[in-house]
Amino acid sequence: MSCTAIAPTNLALIKYWGKRDASLNLPINSSLSVTLDQRDLQTITTASFADDKDRLWVNGEEVEVESIPRTVTVLKEFRKLIPPSDPRHSRPIHLASKNSFPTAAGLASSAAGYSAMVTALAGLFELDFEGRKEEFSRIARQGSGSACRSLMGGFVAWNMGNAADGSDSQAEQICAASHWPTLEAVICVASDKKKSVSSTSGMQTSVKTSQLLGHRAEAIVPTRFEQIKRAIKDLNTECVWELTMKESNQFHACCLDTCPPIFYLTDTSRRIIHVVNELNQQGVKYAYTFDAGPNAVIFTESQNVHPLLQRLVQMFPPCRNDLRVDADYEFVRGRTRLTRAQILDDLPKKQEQAEDLSGDLLYLFHTGVGQGARILTGAEEDKYRNELFSQKN
Ligand code: DP6
Repeated sequence: MSCTAIAPTNLALIKYWGKRDASLNLPINSSLSVTLDQRDLQTITTASFADDKDRLWVNGEEVEVESIPRTVTVLKEFRKLIPPSDPRHSRPIHLASKNSFPTAAGLASSAAGYSAMVTALAGLFELDFEGRKEEFSRIARQGSGSACRSLMGGFVAWNMGNAADGSDSQAEQICAASHWPTLEAVICVASDKKKSVSSTSGMQTSVKTSQLLGHRAEAIVPTRFEQIKRAIKDLNTECVWELTMKESNQFHACCLDTCPPIFYLTDTSRRIIHVVNELNQQGVKYAYTFDAGPNAVIFTESQNVHPLLQRLVQMFPPCRNDLRVDADYEFVRGRTRLTRAQILDDLPKKQEQAEDLSGDLLYLFHTGVGQGARILTGAEEDKYRNELFSQKN
């Protein structure tokens, strides 16, 4: 009577920006992403049959289902898969969902959210999730475009498709996470606030007003998409990094070309770009990318993470006089953990004053490539389900 699923977030190397059909979430170009490790950043969702009406809780707060048309669509699409004669067809459903990372801060929370929802619903209706992932990715896509890519692990393409009904616009795994297990990422969180222009409305304005976006979708992305797929398959790291940075730059150029312009990057974002360029001077080992927000994600291989973190904490140290947090505040999180006190003890006072940038980053998050969304079972399911149920009431 209930099913709990976990889903990772994903980070686009080739960006999805622009819809040719806004109600079906059909994109103007194909995109490609890396699925991040769900043990580090995840959404957990429980779907259960109920007796009252469809209801939704996000991070413990109830949200009116009818006020979110995308959620209504996802529920409707699942019910279509069940014959009307089946009593489950008309049963109300409760969904409770929890994110382990800031919602709507440009960290693809809607991607993890809708892929967890779709996975939990597939489990609730006892459908073959593993065998029908591409089909379910078309439902996740209708929740949030980027969500279709989080159903699969590793390196995932979202093929734009041509059909007007969206029947060929779906995700496809290019390589599993095990193909390139040394791929890691450092997320630089400069802000955990909701972004000022949502992806959904930003991309609509760009489609209407940016000539550059139209040119990009038609003349640039198709080649780039094939090039990066090849480079990933061949583990041609330098080529992957270069294309990733070019893509991020071009996406933000399209935002600037939008009328009125959209500014997702901040001074801190630009300083991070400089740090990466500086580190790449002796050969390209790092790639930055920014989604619809100021937070950078820097990709690199395992052996290069330590020097990167060292440079980042030196450039953007935690603020010594920050009264909002205590000494135990975790400034580096995830696979590497460092508290603010540990960093400040090591930092020469002189350098800190010279750079005068302390406090620009809230924290750094070290993670890597991982598996796609999955249904939880056994002890793992019990652990999360109990937590979500207690939050619902
Ligand atoms: C910049 O998937 O959040 O992160 O389909 O309207 O929900 P909707 O948009 P969304 O857009 C993501 C945009 C992006 C690039 C990407 O993930 O490919």
